[in-house]
Formats: sequence, C-alpha cells, structure tokens
Amino acid sequence: MQKFIINGGRRLRGELALQGSKNSSLPIMAAALLCFGECTLHSCPALTDVYAASRILNFVGCKCTFSDNTAVIDSSAVGSTAVPEGLMREMRSSIIFMGAMLGRTGECTVSVPGGCELGPRPIDMHLSALRKMGIDIRENGGDIICRAFGGRAKGAKISLAFPSVGATENVILAAVTAEGETVINNAAREPEICDLCSFLRRCGADISGDGESRIIINGKKQLHGCEYTIMPDRIAGATYLSMAAATKGEIILTNACVPEMEPFISVLEQTGCSIYTSENRIYMRSGTRLRAVRDRIRTMPHPGFPTDAQAVLMAALTAADGTSVFEENIFDCRYRHTDALLKMGADIQVLGKVAVVKGVEKLHGANVEATDLRGGAAMAVAALCAEGCSEITKICHIDRGYEKMEEAVRLLGGEMRRS
Ligand code: UD1
Repeated sequence: MQKFIINGGRRLRGELALQGSKNSSLPIMAAALLCFGECTLHSCPALTDVYAASRILNFVGCKCTFSDNTAVIDSSAVGSTAVPEGLMREMRSSIIFMGAMLGRTGECTVSVPGGCELGPRPIDMHLSALRKMGIDIRENGGDIICRAFGGRAKGAKISLAFPSVGATENVILAAVTAEGETVINNAAREPEICDLCSFLRRCGADISGDGESRIIINGKKQLHGCEYTIMPDRIAGATYLSMAAATKGEIILTNACVPEMEPFISVLEQTGCSIYTSENRIYMRSGTRLRAVRDRIRTMPHPGFPTDAQAVLMAALTAADGTSVFEENIFDCRYRHTDALLKMGADIQVLGKVAVVKGVEKLHGANVEATDLRGGAAMAVAALCAEGCSEITKICHIDRGYEKMEEAVRLLGGEMRRS
C-alpha cells in the first residue's frame, strides 16, 4: 500500500493550474449514457473515482477511453442495465448512474450504497423522487430494481426535503428524457449541478433554473453527443489555498472558478491572508501566522461554506492565533480527521456537530492514516506546516479526489513524495 512522506515547514510558493472537478466529472460521465453519439469531455481529472465511473460505463456497453485528461464516451451500444455490486462499491457516488440508466433504457438494477466514511449515506430522497416520476422500485437483498411504467419516466413535481446534490442530479438525469415537464423544488444549487446542466443543454436537453432552488426540465426524446470542458475543482482549489496559507506561503491558482469559490475565499480572508482574484485566477499571500476565524464556520449547502472544505481549513487553523469554531451541518461523521490532527499536536475538541480548534504554537510530524478523502487532504495540509516528517497511509482515499497531489505540492516547493 502506498503512502505519502512529507517533510513539513517549507513555505509553499508558486503557480498551480487547478484540475477539473471530480464532483462534476462523475455525473457528467453518467449523463453521457443518455446521448446517442460520442461525448468528448476535456479537463476530466485522472482520479480513481473517474476510472471507476469509466469501468461502469464500459460494463453497460459504452466505449469509454481516457487519455491526457480527455474522456471519450460513445454510448451508441448500451446493452446491460444492471451494474454489479463490485463496481457499484468501488465508488460511493455510483448511485448517480441510476437516473442516467433509467433515462436511457427505462430500467436498471443497482446495489444499495453501504455506509461510508462520512456515516450512513441514505438514498431515500433519490428513491421517493424517482417513484414520483413513475418508476417502480423494488429492493431485493442489496439490489435496487427499477423499471419505468410504460418504459419511460414521466415528468413530475418534486419537492426535496433537503437540497441533496445526488438526489437533484439523479432526478435531472431521469427527467431530461422523460415524458413531459419535471419541476424540482428545493433543488441543490451547487456549481457542479450547473455544470451538469450546461453539459446536458449542449447535448440538446431543455433545462432552466439550475443554480436556483427551482429547476424546470422539459423531457426530450433523445439527446446527442457533444464536446465539453469540465469546470475546475473548487475543493482542490480550497485545499491548495489552505496548504499555502498554513505554510505562510504565496500561491497563484490558475484555471480557478472564482465566483464558485467565493464562500471559501471569504472565510479564508478572515485569517489575515491577502487574496486578489481576477477572471479565472486567485492570488493568495499569507506571509505571517494565520488568525483564527472569528465567526463560527458553519457548513451549509451552496452558497454556504462547503462541507468538503471543512477539514482542510481546520488543518490550516490548528496553528493559528486564537480559537476557531466549526459547525458541521451536512454529514454526521465528518470530524474523523481530528484524531490525526491531535496526534500532530493540535488542540481540538469535538462535541457533536461542533469542533473547537484552539491554535497551538506549532504542529509536529506524525504517522497518520487517511480516514476519508477530504480528511486525508487535511492531514497533508497539517503535515506540510508541521515541524519534521509525517507519513500518511491509506492514501487511496486521497487519490479518489486529487490528481497526483504530491506533484502539485512539489511544484509549489513542498517536500512530499509517494512511496
Ligand atoms: C455530494 C458530493 C460530496 C459533498 C456533498 C455535499 C459528489 C460526488 N459528492 O455528495 O462531495 O460533500 O454533495 O455537498 O458530488 N441525504 C439523505 N437522503 C438522501 C440523500 C442525502 O438523508 O436521499 C443526506 C445525506 O446523508 C447528507 C445530506 O443529505 O447528510 C447531503 O447529502 P447530498 O447532498 O446528497 O450529498 P452527496 O450527493 O452524497
């Protein structure tokens, strides 16, 4: 099993082009299933989750090839509608294929995603919304067997109890080729939803309202292929900004999605970092010790502070002046990285959904194990600002979402290698 070895204490300095977004690539790859013809996706990140998505596509009969960050997906010959459990389990977000396969063939069999690193990940909202669209759903053992009455999903008025990203995506994917109009109230407003909708529009879909709480979709009989560039990864952006901030560094992020990163940037600014943005560039200079963030950092659906950036910012604030308070409102088990940060000398107290982070003088290197994707990234942030050497094991979690993190860090002057 591979690990990262990090020698901390070096200021990160330099320019980095952001990778394409993982959370956009996965639903867009699933959406390519709906298209008759070839889809070419540029800026598709080379990540284990993306490879897992391409294995699912190939299994159901698509031809998906991947090279130099370009995925080419030809869905003309979709055959199977059942995804084996092994493939489903390779990636938690494989449930997103449910809506796409229903949209393409009117049926699918997938397996229930188990609990994951962030706690149980229910799909009740996905299922009740799809049922409203005329899908018969039966659960048999671990299988979910779905079939559209009459072979095609029907448009419906859907009100989500919570603006779930995955449920919104599944409904969109089932609705773009459904019969009639679908309205999603309380839809998720995350930028990756807008990216998915932009891609689908380019394939001929009729969607409006994405980025707002009400999305309206008029089903089309068929979609066609297209060429599309995936948006930049705002969470990878937040991670590299956190690394540079924690090491008193200076960074220019290029290929950045500035408005989409605003909820993170506005909090990072409160730590005393100077941040300047232009169209698709972010310049950040830290220079001195960070200040704690005065206001409670509450994770919320977009445009609130993103839950995916909670761990990396927390790692940067462990050695800040003063006390910062986090409140995790999206997932139940999203503080699993704190044990590793404590091992590195941090002072963090977790009480339910609140974590109180008292800035310490400095962190020290330690051997730690990545608990989940963003938690693992947080350990890398902490290790880079700590004194001495750290080893991070179970980096398969980190590789799910970061394209060669060690190369990006080395480009910025940090000492990080894979062994
Ligand atoms: C997506 C992102 C993930 C991000 C999260 C929140 C992808 C691949 N993943 O995950 O990185 O952290 O959005 O921004 O895009 N819930 C239910 N029932 C459901 C669906 C969700 O109770 O049917 C709950 C979840 O347990 C969680 C909350 O709703 O507590 C938010 O989940 P959701 O927005 O669906 O997140 P994901 O789509 O899984």
